[in-house]
Amino acid sequence: MSGSLVIAGLGPGAEALVTPQVTAALARATDIVGYIPYVARVAPRDGLTLHASDNRVELDRSRHALEMAAAGRHVVVVSSGDPGVFAMAAAVFEAVESGPPAWRDLHIEVLPGITAMLAAAARVGAPLGHDFCAINLSDNLKPWALIEKRLRLAAEADFAMAFYNPRSKARPDGFARVLEILNEACGDTRPMIFARAVSTPEQAIRIVPLPEARPEMADMRTMVLLGNSTTRLITRDGAPFVYTPRSVPMDATPE
Ligand SMILES: C[S@@+](CC[C@H](N)C(=O)[O-])C[C@H]1O[C@@H](n2cnc3c(N)ncnc32)[C@H](O)[C@@H]1O
Repeated sequence: MSGSLVIAGLGPGAEALVTPQVTAALARATDIVGYIPYVARVAPRDGLTLHASDNRVELDRSRHALEMAAAGRHVVVVSSGDPGVFAMAAAVFEAVESGPPAWRDLHIEVLPGITAMLAAAARVGAPLGHDFCAINLSDNLKPWALIEKRLRLAAEADFAMAFYNPRSKARPDGFARVLEILNEACGDTRPMIFARAVSTPEQAIRIVPLPEARPEMADMRTMVLLGNSTTRLITRDGAPFVYTPRSVPMDATPE
């Protein structure tokens, strides 16, 4: 019996942003595995079993999915956005590496999705139009000191930045510290974008100069983007466009 394991990204929320490839994989699946709110986005049907689990059990969830695929089931592990961005794909490969050798011979495929960073950027223009980096602000899986170091180095390198998991009830103070560090390291009024629940009916977008950003502008459904030192605003009636120019002057020398 040959089963399969697909690790699929459901995009940021809107049905129209799920790729046709992912829709086809969901239609073929016998089992869907994932975090409760993501599994809830898959319509139940005859012949499909939904396995929803809590957030902090990624490795257990991955092993369960691999065991079912090894037993001949067609399993789809779902993530929001893209499964390779702070999500399930890496967890599944960690489980494969430490699991029974037979798991390495399974048919395993990763199907990309539209990550929240790109969906948020598109809503305001092109703030990630030049070099940028993405940082997960949760210290559940890494030390806080590493987050601070990466923020400072990203500011020094003049990257635009995309922040996932900015603020949760369990970590109410971390984002205030992030803003302190960014203000200190950037020292200017480049725009910060708070894009909440992008592509869903609750979508809310706010653009403020970095010094005016406040911790309570973000929660766990918010993607935070920060321009680099050249990011520009085009004002107009309604929300401005934000973009980062494609080029940096050739005579601009790094300090
Ligand atoms: C664990 S990460 C998962 C990221 C996901 N794999 C992706 O590629 O978008 C969860 C974080 O993604 C961001 N996020 C996910 N969906 C979002 C949306 N529709 N609007 C804004 N931010 C979103 C939030 O920062 C949230 O805390």
